[in-house]
Amino acid sequence: MTTTGPIRSICCIGAGYVGGPTMAVIADRCPHIQVTVVDLNAERIAAWNHDDLARLPVYEPGLDAVVGRARGRNLHFTTAVDDAIAGADMIFLSVNTPTKTRGVGAGQASDLRWIEASARQVAAAANGHTIVVEKSTLPVRTAEAVKTILSAAQGTAGGTKTFSVLSNPEFLAEGSAIGDLENPDRVLIGGEDETAIESLASVYGQWVSQERILRTNLWSSELSKLTANAFLAQRISSINGIAALCEATGADVREVGRAIGTDSRIGSKFLQAGPGFGGSCFQKDILNLVYLCRHYGLEQVASYWESVVGLNTWQQQRIARLVVNNLFGTVSGKRIAILGFAFKADTNDTREAPAISICRDLIEEGAQLAIVDPKVGDQQITLDLGRPPVDPATAARGVPLGGDGTWIPAESVVEAARGADAVLILTEWQEYRHLDWGAIAAVMRQPAWLFDARAVADAEAARAAGLNVWRVGEG
Ligand code: UDX
Ligand code: ADP
Repeated sequence: MTTTGPIRSICCIGAGYVGGPTMAVIADRCPHIQVTVVDLNAERIAAWNHDDLARLPVYEPGLDAVVGRARGRNLHFTTAVDDAIAGADMIFLSVNTPTKTRGVGAGQASDLRWIEASARQVAAAANGHTIVVEKSTLPVRTAEAVKTILSAAQGTAGGTKTFSVLSNPEFLAEGSAIGDLENPDRVLIGGEDETAIESLASVYGQWVSQERILRTNLWSSELSKLTANAFLAQRISSINGIAALCEATGADVREVGRAIGTDSRIGSKFLQAGPGFGGSCFQKDILNLVYLCRHYGLEQVASYWESVVGLNTWQQQRIARLVVNNLFGTVSGKRIAILGFAFKADTNDTREAPAISICRDLIEEGAQLAIVDPKVGDQQITLDLGRPPVDPATAARGVPLGGDGTWIPAESVVEAARGADAVLILTEWQEYRHLDWGAIAAVMRQPAWLFDARAVADAEAARAAGLNVWRVGEG
């Protein structure tokens, strides 16, 4: 155990969706602590420092106000990684940990190269005693690797360099990150060094009550994060599976959800059927769990969790297929308006968004997609679909039947729907609840369809405007 005084300066490595909002809230709630967020990506840092708070790199309701209050006072964004590490009492590792795409564990295990690189940077640049906090979602026992890297530097620099490693997983959900951070269900701190645990608990203690700050050992903390995400994702696959059965039997998944959600053992949250879960965490964390289970010889457990991801993939493919089937078995050369590309509402994040695979499948079938999203730009869609949009003039002339599928960005829902055979809603943006279906139907080619994969649109109004309507989970 090591003695430490109160925390005066925090450095966070990684200015992404987790690091940025988390540090902004810590700085806002702890004005006596200097918080420096560093990133190798100079463009991202410049965006965090942008005068116009509407142009921060992460869109998150309420984030602009929090950053506006703390930035320049005790919240700083910089690319000077080593200086920030050297000046910090506590360092959060909040770098990306995507699924490995090659080598051992490809497609399942997490790629830990960014964690390793940042741990090495900390080992080299830190001064005195430093508490290192794992914030990124990591496979169980990653702290072991971080500790090993740090212990190589321990005792160097005249014997003054020492480290404690803690796990403090993030449970914020995008779109509600500020509320989740300001009023968390719980804060989880895993570690062995009680002084370090209490130092971190005292940071959160500035605004979170002590009974909500849970202390565990390192491995329980790491595993709790994977387990929480696996349980949440499992609920979505469960309700999506039931939605398909509702469609086949004449039941309505919203009625079923309400009926089961009133059982307090089940609870009413996370029962919305949809196009499948997306986001940077769910699939990655389940695959991580699957990899760990296989590693420890627990094949039954591995395949149980693997089926949650399998059902999610199936749901996305099912939606693309049913669009094609309802449009007389072909979408070749047909225009389809895609409403929403982000993986959920109130974020500009598209990582693992169901829209990506559904749009790719429809493009593969030859469709001409007109994509509109209030927060996702053309550049991101180009990266995600692996192809640029076609020139709007070409699109206006229409795609020859049997031609290759394409996409164009659209400025508004009505513009996207112009000449389209179908509108497909993939993200539950609030504005899609109040669309003027009369105006939309008037610009579409008849017979026209509304496919509502989020069940947010006013189906009665769409039917009254003459559209055929499919809603997820409605028999
Ligand atoms: C998730 C966890 O909720 C959070 O605790 C963790 O820290 C990170 O991963 P996030 O991915 O940001 O957060 O969003 P979340 O609200 O969990 O939604 C994930 C996906 O599930 C989205 O694609 C969403 O649309 C979908 N979803 C969610 C449903 O389809 N139905 C639901 O009822 C809830
Ligand atoms: P998350 O959703 O977990 O926050 P992001 O990909 O949005 O993930 O953010 C992770 C950030 O970490 C990226 O901006 C990336 O540039 C940054 N990063 C990765 N490795 C390092 C490193 N060694 N030093 C500084 N920043 C890093």
